[in-house]
Amino acid sequence: MTAANPAPTSAASAPDAFDVRAFRTCLGHYATGVAVVAAAHAGARCGMTINSFSALSLTPPLIMWSIRNESSARELFLAAEHFSVNILAADQIEVSGRFAKSSGDPFDAGGWTCGDHGEPLLGQVAARLRCRRHQSIPAGDHTILIGEVSSFEHFDRPPLLFVQGEYRVSAPHPMGRPAAASNDTAQALGSASMMRLLYSLSERWMDEFDLDRATTNLSRSQSRTLAWLSDGPKTVEALGANIGISAALVDDDIARLLALGHIQVAASQGFELTPSGQALRRDLAQSIAQFEQAKLSKLDPVQVAQLRQLLIQLLAS
Ligand SMILES: Cc1cc2nc3c(=O)[nH]c(=O)nc-3n(C[C@H](O)[C@H](O)[C@H](O)COP(=O)(O)O)c2cc1C
Repeated sequence: MTAANPAPTSAASAPDAFDVRAFRTCLGHYATGVAVVAAAHAGARCGMTINSFSALSLTPPLIMWSIRNESSARELFLAAEHFSVNILAADQIEVSGRFAKSSGDPFDAGGWTCGDHGEPLLGQVAARLRCRRHQSIPAGDHTILIGEVSSFEHFDRPPLLFVQGEYRVSAPHPMGRPAAASNDTAQALGSASMMRLLYSLSERWMDEFDLDRATTNLSRSQSRTLAWLSDGPKTVEALGANIGISAALVDDDIARLLALGHIQVAASQGFELTPSGQALRRDLAQSIAQFEQAKLSKLDPVQVAQLRQLLIQLLAS
């Protein structure tokens, strides 16, 4: 590590003090897509959200993913000869959440068809692969499933991404794109949908603000947790629904914020901000206000006020 590198936020090395939560947080820095794997066997079907999917071999065409040994779907996936991998599109967060639950039948909502071997195939996805189970390898508390790809298709839809416990969308890196391409993009924006414009601006501002947020050592979802708690105590379920992440990930954020002393268990129910959490939340809100001020200062204040009103109107409708 060079002197210019920032100090690590946390580290776990001694095997006897191995911190599984910290390990999971560390692994979460590797950005992935999100897929739903699905299979049918002996009249039953199952589907689950995964991000352990990975390419394995081109010739023969192999892919792999891993399933928790305690998963209720493991037996069926190990018995089924075929399975599908449905790579979710950016607008399929709801599908990801539905197939990550252990209760209820995620197929009830529809939006799927049956493949040649009964394996469910989801619609509106970014890409889809049909596989024959090639090998399964027990490894630690998971089992690796390797599939030989029998057919695949991809569609013109941006993929859903997952990193640091949050859903994201992909965008070209500003430093990885030649200048000419930026002008092309500006031209293309003229005919882009409103949805794309709003989404792209929000993503770009969030990415840029991450640099300011880095000084607080909090992730996006942790700072959003502080924001949601600023108007009163909330349960883990309410926080998950507001922030749009799973209860397990809220648990991680809660554990970190508790350890940092920014939140505490509320007397009524759920969690609330401590005085240090309130101060940090105020600092973050001030940084956001300064960030926005810098962005908007070159624009006509009347137009900015009108834009604000329009956005509020659209959000309320
Ligand atoms: C983004 C995301 C990625 C996930 N990746 C995996 C994975 O790779 N392997 C796995 O076993 N579970 C993974 N899960 C958890 C399963 O989706 C979840 O445990 C399962 O659907 C719940 O049913 P079960 O309790 O029967 O396992 C993931 C969940 C989410 C939200």
